[in-house]
Amino acid sequence: MGFARNQPDYEVKAGALTSDWLGSFQAVPRELFVPDRIWPGIADGTRQTGLVDRAKDPEAWFEAVYSDIPLTTQWDDGRHSGNGLGTMPTSSSSMPRMVFSMLADLDVADGHRVLEIGTGTGWNAGLLAHRLGGANVVSVEYDADVSMAAVENLRRAGLAPLALVGDGRLGHPASAPFDRVIATCSVGEVPRAWVEQARPGGLIVAPWGTEYGGEYIARLVVGNDGTANGPFTRSSAFMRLRQQRTERPPFEAYLKGQEWPSDGTRSTTTLSPADIGGWLAQFVIGLHVPGAFWRVERYGDGTYTLWTYSTDTRSWASAGYEPEATEYTVVQSGPRRLWDETEAACLWWEENSRPGFDRFGLTVDGEGERVWLGSPDQPIPCLST
Ligand SMILES: C[S@@+](CC[C@H](N)C(=O)[O-])C[C@H]1O[C@@H](n2cnc3c(N)ncnc32)[C@H](O)[C@@H]1O
Repeated sequence: MGFARNQPDYEVKAGALTSDWLGSFQAVPRELFVPDRIWPGIADGTRQTGLVDRAKDPEAWFEAVYSDIPLTTQWDDGRHSGNGLGTMPTSSSSMPRMVFSMLADLDVADGHRVLEIGTGTGWNAGLLAHRLGGANVVSVEYDADVSMAAVENLRRAGLAPLALVGDGRLGHPASAPFDRVIATCSVGEVPRAWVEQARPGGLIVAPWGTEYGGEYIARLVVGNDGTANGPFTRSSAFMRLRQQRTERPPFEAYLKGQEWPSDGTRSTTTLSPADIGGWLAQFVIGLHVPGAFWRVERYGDGTYTLWTYSTDTRSWASAGYEPEATEYTVVQSGPRRLWDETEAACLWWEENSRPGFDRFGLTVDGEGERVWLGSPDQPIPCLST
């Protein structure tokens, strides 16, 4: 092979693989956990390339396994069996830099007991089991076939955390309390059980994203009073916990057989659709505009329409982008004025000097959860009508 196997350079360079994890990284090689058929991704986790099959091209397989990229291992909850891309990636081996960054956020110490949600290939559970001992690690996976493969991978690596099939939202009460809870699938709502099953002073590390888009790792400290609170530490792009996937009704559900602009109201805006596509902008809009998602329809000449839809299919907005324009046509329909809400979210962001993700944080308590800016006593206002 023309490359060094299990070479930690890429994580060390990225600053993600801290020295306390180096031993586990070397002792628990990723290659033992990656299936023969994978769809390598790109670093931001949003796209996959074609199938790489170890039996047909071992060189390409090893190169992918020892690259700092996510590897899709299952599509469409296991219903996709072909060689092409499926519709939605539903299990993967996460990008190594993200794995070790999250483990650094988790801040484990000898003797800690850890609950992981989303066993996937078992690599992260294996790293935790190597570091803390199998008896201190519980990993829950919803998909029985995925879990079975992970258990076999762990066995081959000589590791034996408690790997269970179940709905990770429920945690594992019989093994609680945990010092640490880590989710390797994203949530839009932190399940109550994770807070209840963490000991006071314990940590929850979980990717948290809005329905609209944008996602960051929440690092929450659990209090004596059953609350959990903390900042976002880094950008992420995980697959969603199955039971919290955003409903994305088909686009025909909106115009209801009519031609655009249908019953929509026309207006113009100076907010360019091109200025709100960034990961952080999506996150900020999603905080203010819940129950909504977007789609871009491109026309091949550089122009496109940015559609915003409410998940209840009652409201939609279109904003037409033209490269040289300074004003853009907007059409809105339904009880919610989704473009007005989007503009209000962007204005709020401007008025607060466009804060970065690291100024935001999350509080989870008996009343639900709130994202805040700067400090927990400054919750983000919901601007939806
Ligand atoms: C990105 S993969 C996990 C990567 C894994 N930690 C590894 O090291 O390979 C996300 C996993 O979360 C699982 N998942 C989704 N919803 C779940 C739930 N409610 N409970 C447990 N696992 C869930 C998916 O089936 C998928 O295998």
